[in-house]
Amino acid sequence: MKKKPTTPLLKNIAACFDWLDEDSLIPKEPLIDAPPSPEFIIDGRRIISFSSNNYLGMSRRPEVIKTAKKALSKFSMGTCESRKLGGNIALLEALEGRIARFKGEEAAMIFATGLLANVATIPGLMDAQWYCNQFYGRKWSQDTGTIFSDAHNHRSIQMGIRLSHANVVKYPHGDMTHLEEELASCKSSNKLIISDGVFSMDGDLAPLPELTALASRYQATIMIDDAHGTGIFGAHGRGVAEHFSVENRVSIHMGTLSKAVGAMGGFVATDSKIIEFLKSTASGYRFTSSLPAEQAAGIICALDIMENEPQLRQKLWHNVRRLLHGLHELNIPINYQWSPIIPLLLGSAKKAYKAEKILLERGLSCIAVVPPLVANNCSRLRITINSTHSKKQIEQLLAGLAIVEKKIGFSQPENSKQSWNGFLGTFPSYITKT
Ligand SMILES: Cc1ncc(COP(=O)(O)O)c(C=O)c1O
Repeated sequence: MKKKPTTPLLKNIAACFDWLDEDSLIPKEPLIDAPPSPEFIIDGRRIISFSSNNYLGMSRRPEVIKTAKKALSKFSMGTCESRKLGGNIALLEALEGRIARFKGEEAAMIFATGLLANVATIPGLMDAQWYCNQFYGRKWSQDTGTIFSDAHNHRSIQMGIRLSHANVVKYPHGDMTHLEEELASCKSSNKLIISDGVFSMDGDLAPLPELTALASRYQATIMIDDAHGTGIFGAHGRGVAEHFSVENRVSIHMGTLSKAVGAMGGFVATDSKIIEFLKSTASGYRFTSSLPAEQAAGIICALDIMENEPQLRQKLWHNVRRLLHGLHELNIPINYQWSPIIPLLLGSAKKAYKAEKILLERGLSCIAVVPPLVANNCSRLRITINSTHSKKQIEQLLAGLAIVEKKIGFSQPENSKQSWNGFLGTFPSYITKT
């Protein structure tokens, strides 16, 4: 192995690593030999995964794989170019049309990942005038705009915000009173409210009726990152905006193709002029190679299946209900909420890692989520339920969680006010049918 020169920067990084590692704060990356199905093998042992966002099992559907393979043979591995410089194969435009139809929007554009969709879109939207001034000599106003962002928003949103020239107001999680005060005192004319639809670590939903009402009262644009809602929420699986019947009040719909859709990539869907503008100006679209053909072909097939098989979503909600009911029976403290993401709080990172280990010894994979993904003392097991879990697998999980409760003890979530019976009355009809 070659010996590298030691520099102060590299020495500091090594010191940081050692310091974190001493406290077990460097998460491991378990090696698996097949994607969660939800069963997979680690070190020769069969493990049931409760940590995959493959909510509807799409990544393993034979029709999807067959379609993707056909496209792979025809178009080869990568496009090796960005869309404007030769990487615009017809399948990518077909996928954009398919996503626009799925979301009921005029147009859509795709990105190599969901993270990139946020990183590219947020500055793309906020810096439109700056772009024309900077590169084409226009003398538009110097109002760089203001972004209003929920404190629990995904890291990719925070990255996109940092790249833009806009001012930022971070409002406390879900605090509509605070948000309204900030909107009322904001002098910018370009205002963007941005929120996760389903918060990725807590599984709770953004209060879209209130958010969209504030957006229209203060003439703000609203962008929803529906990474975890796409394909799952709403009677047709169009996402959290459909769930709350506010689809036409959300201006920019962002989503990922890496969760319920079971593939890779991200998208935004909105009016066609905004899409055409972003395609020309957003760096995370123009300065990177396009999604490979086999992904586009497989995703189109997956979206068709998701639309034609509502029973997949029904099975998912049925499983969510089964797990919530079991947790209730075991008296394990949780926030009752409709979501396939179920956080079980433990407090310290050490406790969360210990709980993860106890479950893994019993053949169950539930990921420990620790800072900086969540706040200090909010470490947890993040459980995700898929439509492909069987009754027996969920019972195995409940048995494992009962042991964790006895040995370590789960903590009470801060705002767990909802009673079980009260909660049961809140089921939307498309969920109660399960
Ligand atoms: C809310 C949210 N937005 C964006 C992303 C990024 O999506 P992707 O994994 O497709 O890059 C994630 C992924 O975890 C997410 O949870």
